[in-house]
Amino acid sequence: MSLAAYRVIHVLSTMLLFTALGGLLLASRAGVQNDASRKLAGMTHGIALILILVSGFGALAKIGLSNPGIWPAWLWLKVLIWLVFGGIIVLIRRAPRFAAILWWVLPLLGGAAAYLAIYKP
Ligand code: HEM
Repeated sequence: MSLAAYRVIHVLSTMLLFTALGGLLLASRAGVQNDASRKLAGMTHGIALILILVSGFGALAKIGLSNPGIWPAWLWLKVLIWLVFGGIIVLIRRAPRFAAILWWVLPLLGGAAAYLAIYKP
């Protein structure tokens, strides 16, 4: 697959991720734990994270960065952000009081991931 294709899949998966996060945050605020919508959002979150990882590594191979030994700092930060997006689901479920702040902070974190990839600071 081409770099362009990996990038399109990467962006598409981030859209899925934020659709899922929006649903999870609203479910958390509403005190919903186990209904079908909450499950749909949880499943979408997992699929999005896998797609982000696979397409991210596909793109990395295309730009000659498959070896972690030569990874620049911006890339490690992106991996860290990916881990945060994975782990945040626990906080969203267990601490609804944080949902309102996460509603704004998580998109900012996504913006930071985009900034890191585009500017490669
Ligand atoms: C392990 C995790 C990740 C890896 C390895 C990764 C890797 C990459 C790579 C290699 C690129 C393309 C850079 C280029 O073509 O020069 C990219 C672009 C991008 N990434 Fe990630 N990324 C990861 C996670 C994320 C996350 C969690 C988000 C947002 C939620 C994100 C958002 C973006 C965006 C918006 C772009 C710009 C699209 C483009 O123009 O190429 N990435 N990423």
